Amino acid sequence: MFDEIQFEKIARLPKYVFAAVNDLKMGERHAGKDIIDLSMGNPDGDTPQHIVDKLIDSIKKSKTHRYSSSQGITKLRVAICDWYKRKYNVDLDPNTEAVVTMGSKEGFANLVQAITNRGDSAIVPDPCYPIHSQAFLLAGGNVHGIKLELNEDYTLNEDVFLANIEQVFRESTPAPKFVVVNFPNNPTTATVGLGFYKKLVDLAKKERFYIISDIAYAEIAFDGYKTPSILEIEGAKDVAVETYTLSKTYNMAGWRVGFVVGNPKLVSALKKIKSWLDYGMFTPIQVAATIALNGDQTCVREISDTYEKRRDALIESFGNAGWEIYKPRASMFVWAKIPEKFRDLGSLEFSKKLLLEANVAVSPGIGFGVYGDDSVRIALIENEKRIRQAAKNIKTFLKK
Ligand SMILES: Cc1ncc(COP(=O)(O)O)c(C=O)c1O
Repeated sequence: MFDEIQFEKIARLPKYVFAAVNDLKMGERHAGKDIIDLSMGNPDGDTPQHIVDKLIDSIKKSKTHRYSSSQGITKLRVAICDWYKRKYNVDLDPNTEAVVTMGSKEGFANLVQAITNRGDSAIVPDPCYPIHSQAFLLAGGNVHGIKLELNEDYTLNEDVFLANIEQVFRESTPAPKFVVVNFPNNPTTATVGLGFYKKLVDLAKKERFYIISDIAYAEIAFDGYKTPSILEIEGAKDVAVETYTLSKTYNMAGWRVGFVVGNPKLVSALKKIKSWLDYGMFTPIQVAATIALNGDQTCVREISDTYEKRRDALIESFGNAGWEIYKPRASMFVWAKIPEKFRDLGSLEFSKKLLLEANVAVSPGIGFGVYGDDSVRIALIENEKRIRQAAKNIKTFLKK
């Protein structure tokens, strides 16, 4: 019916690659197989008790049951700015430079919706967390994908990255308006030092673009690595916003709490579009999120330590099984080159094979971009025992 009526935005969105592995995974589970699921970045731990208790306290107060505030309650915006001051010594105005979002994915997508004119373009690394590019397509914009080149130690190859941006500017009319960065990176786990952001901010001022920096994995960092914030750079607020989430840091993925801070023009655009789209997150969740940021941070260390132990177990046991993988410095993933003898298969076929023959689910790199196709992303979301079991299965699989 109505074949002449086309939904162009939806048609422009590519098929969700991960669905292929997901469907296969569900099928195998239904058939009774014990699948070790290392595919999604969905934290498996409990939200710390003091945060849950605060939610329960707050929900008992009937005045919290009404519509909340779309930009976030004042106390939470103040807590966000205090967190930035404590962690990064960055000053932010809770009224003009911070907005609460229903998870950082929603915040990112609505921000892009608010600031993208039809035909505008953005530079987005490839591979990337899929919404980083798809949000621009949904908003009627275009994407210049630039290959994310890593050094041998899985730090970003800054020179190549910045040179790629400059090349896009030399070759594109109209010039792109936005550059997206995400370090620690999903899916590659790549990290950067503060010096990179200084160069990026300088370039943004020279070429006249806004930067959206996503630091979702800032607190999942190992071996003494400390994730920098772009807002630590003097004058960064002129050109940059940063997005963050409580999903990973506090095991609160289902709660949907994130925020966007920094450049007041971008923050105000996001606030305005959100004021039309939503009435804000349920107040008790915002109250509990305030406690998460303001309260004892021991739980953050514990959550990060859990991922670190799993990382160590995985690198060691997969290595013994014959699959050498680089040990990442941050995030809840490892980014693994497909073993040589299977590389020609590509990441989707390899992931399917791994699922069917080793009972291990991973995410195919192609789902994050064409340059991801020689790798798979393995999420550290099962305990050490299960990770070691996965390694055993893989050892048998590789020997076949
Ligand atoms: C880089 C990155 N940003 C944002 C998100 C989404 O986080 P949230 O749960 O806040 O929407 C994820 C989730 O996997 C992510 O990997």
